[in-house]
This record gives sequence, C-alpha cells and structure tokens, in this order.
Amino acid sequence: MRTAAERVICVADAALAARGRFDWALSGGSTPAALYRLLASPGYAERVDWSRVHFFWSDERCVPPDHAESNFRMAREALLDAVAAPSSRIHRLEGELPPSAAAQRYEAELAGCFGVEPGSGFPAFDLILLGLGADGHTASLFPGSPALVETRRWVVANEVATLGATRLTFTLPLLNATRAALFLVAGADKAERLEQVVMNRADPPWPAQRVRPHGAEPDWLVDAEAGSRLGLPIEAAP
Ligand code: 6PG
Repeated sequence: MRTAAERVICVADAALAARGRFDWALSGGSTPAALYRLLASPGYAERVDWSRVHFFWSDERCVPPDHAESNFRMAREALLDAVAAPSSRIHRLEGELPPSAAAQRYEAELAGCFGVEPGSGFPAFDLILLGLGADGHTASLFPGSPALVETRRWVVANEVATLGATRLTFTLPLLNATRAALFLVAGADKAERLEQVVMNRADPPWPAQRVRPHGAEPDWLVDAEAGSRLGLPIEAAP
C-alpha cells in the first residue's frame, strides 16, 4: 500500500506543479480504503497540500451520504476528515437523488470544475483510482450493463441486473480521457480475472479491460495473491 501512496503523492506533486490543483477521482471498495487511511496518517498526510486537491468519485451507490454503503462516506471517514479537506473541494455524487438526476447534476458539476461542456469533449482528471471486481467490473461498469455502450455521456445511472440495483458511474469515454488511471487490486479471488484483463485475453473484453486512457495501458498495483497468475516476480506487499 505504501507503493500506492507514493504513486498518488507523486502524481499530485506533478499536477500541483503543472496546474496548481490535483483533480483526483476516488473509487470505493476495500482496497482503496486502506490507501486512504495510509495517506491520512503521519508521514504521508503532511506531504500533500490537501487544500488544492479536488476530490471526485468514479462511482457511487444510490444511497445517502451517511449510509454504510456510500463510497463518499468511506472516503470521508478514511481520508477527507483527517486531512481537513475543504468542502469546496469535495465533489460528491449525490446518491440520495433520483439516479438520472444525480448523474446529470454531476456532469454539470464536472463541467463547472473543468470548463468543458457535456457533448463537446471530456474532462481530464489527473488521476482516476479504480478497482477490479472478481466479475470483471470496474467503477460501476458491470459486465452486460447498459452503461458500457455509452459513447457521449460522462456520468450515467447504470442499472446493474446482477446486483438488482442502480449505480452511478463514470462512463468508459470519461475514464479513458484521464491523464492517468491506477488500478489497485488485492486478493486471490481476483487472480483469474486480473490475468485475463492485464493480458488482454478475454473476448469480449471485461469492462476493466476496456480502460485504456488515450489508448495506453493503465497502471496496475496488485498484491501477490491477485497477481499469482501473472507469471511475474511480485514483490511482497510492503
Ligand atoms: C465500488 C467500486 C468498485 C470496486 C471494486 C473492487 O463502489 O465498489 O468502486 O468498482 O473498486 O468492486 O473492490 P475491492 O477493492 O473491495 O475489491
């Protein structure tokens, strides 16, 4: 996890030097929670000028912000409160609203933050953090779900039949407009899917396999269990 924290700090440094702000889209899931807690801890927290970090979310569950399943709540508890992130820099998906309205409002929020209009291009985040589900999903782009065919929208309400739920999620074209994407993957249950995705083996591709920012490979940080089928020397988790 220290490697992930160093990577985030490095990208933040470069973005702050280049543009004076760091636009970071967070993900939910258990793996990033550990990263957020580490970044909030002594030795890390003071290395970032948090007042110039803009926090966004690449997906959200359709629940209020204080709900146990809220990705916003997880990040707030693990990181935002600890580093006293200013509320003007926190751009959360409003999971408590009707999903389509929440998606449209988030597109308007992004348009204001990035100075790009929906329909005329895509905002470029400095970093989008992503996870991989054992079913091949990333963000809330699940296999077979309608959002996967989206080519113009930035954020949509995605009906996920396998969950019997609607999720708010970034679309593939928005993910692929990012300056950098970093996947964090941990656990043996991810090993088979990770191998297929990283080796580009599945056809049709899993949703995570379709994340190729500007046509390039995203970055992957995986633990030994998740990476056990990659045939690579993997350093023990630090
Ligand atoms: C979410 C996520 C989701 C997550 C993966 C991996 O809201 O759950 O954004 O895409 O990243 O499911 O989650 P883990 O890190 O818990 O394995």
